[in-house]
Amino acid sequence: MSSTTTASSNELSQRLDPIVQRYQGKKGITIPLLADIQKEYGYVAEEAVTYVSKKMDISASEMFGVATFYAMFRLQPEGKYVIRICRGTACHVQGSASVAEEVARHLGIEEGETTEDGIFTLQHVACLGCCSLAPVMMVGDNVHGLLTPPKSIEILEDYRKKG
Ligand code: FES
Repeated sequence: MSSTTTASSNELSQRLDPIVQRYQGKKGITIPLLADIQKEYGYVAEEAVTYVSKKMDISASEMFGVATFYAMFRLQPEGKYVIRICRGTACHVQGSASVAEEVARHLGIEEGETTEDGIFTLQHVACLGCCSLAPVMMVGDNVHGLLTPPKSIEILEDYRKKG
């Protein structure tokens, strides 16, 4: 049996025992419990759910069921840069769909997914409030406008080079 693939139980207990203590003995706490795990790890990490469910009277499958149901929970870590491609009306009219298609093709991921190297997560969002620059995407906190499919790839490759 391998002991090298997951975080040590010591590390899990350091990060998660304070959360367990906060909710122990209380009822109806699955959502805040998952929210705290997500705050700690940046997503709903499988090993964290397994650890917490063993300590509390909630099954791991129930916790994953709730995590999957609500859009606020992420089951995968986010990449270093979150790409938000606008699909609002102004952007749509100016060709955001072809930008989104090219970005997804280039990165080899779909909406909501993260590249294997952990650099990019792709999201489609409603109006970003910069319609005069349509079509628009945000990368992290930066807005990039007047995009074309090739320009959007150039921009993303610049981020990738920065690492
Ligand atoms: S519709 Fe895209 S920024 Fe407003």
